[in-house]
Amino acid sequence: MGEHVKKFLIVAVAAVIAILSAWFSLRPAYLAEKERVASEAADNEAARLEMGRQLYQQSCAACHGANLEGAENWQTQLADGTLPPPPHDETGHTWHHGDQLLFDYTKLGGAAMLARMGVEMKSGMPAFEGKLTDEEIWAILDYIKSTWPQRIRDLQAERTAFENENQ
Ligand code: HEC
Repeated sequence: MGEHVKKFLIVAVAAVIAILSAWFSLRPAYLAEKERVASEAADNEAARLEMGRQLYQQSCAACHGANLEGAENWQTQLADGTLPPPPHDETGHTWHHGDQLLFDYTKLGGAAMLARMGVEMKSGMPAFEGKLTDEEIWAILDYIKSTWPQRIRDLQAERTAFENENQ
């Protein structure tokens, strides 16, 4: 083996050792940081859902029920031509709709949405534009979704994907 090759090999081996030792000494810090970021994200998400739960109780529960159970006989039209508030739990039809439609229904209200969908019906669902921010509406919807069983969440996620593709 020539002198040059030997020197090169020594430098190469030293470099590999340096890289490996740097990797092993930095790795625990890297993993701890990754874990910290993940748990911070989980805390933020939990705080957001808690905010959604409180806003739901303040703004929606009077009609849609404290436990998202809706009004009694919610499928039967009332004398004034409106429908009673439907449940937001898995027994209702909230999960039959994609995210954007649920958002628009909440923000713009039933009258605007039914008109947009070409349905002629009086609505008892108020518009929350100006009363809740977009972020607050999404937090409420995410709280509602967080109460559904996984199977229902998956079906609703498929609905959202379908509606996003077919807009
Ligand atoms: C004054 C009563 C009332 C309040 C308060 C109310 N809703 Fe409604 N909501 C209704 C009624 C009634 C309907 C039935 C559809 C219609 O009449 O347009 C409805 C329908 C909906 C729908 C669409 C139907 C579906 O499939 O679920 C969504 C989404 C909805 N409400 C979300 C909310 C959210 C979120 C809040 C709180 C920010 C809220 N509602 C507050 C009465 C209300």
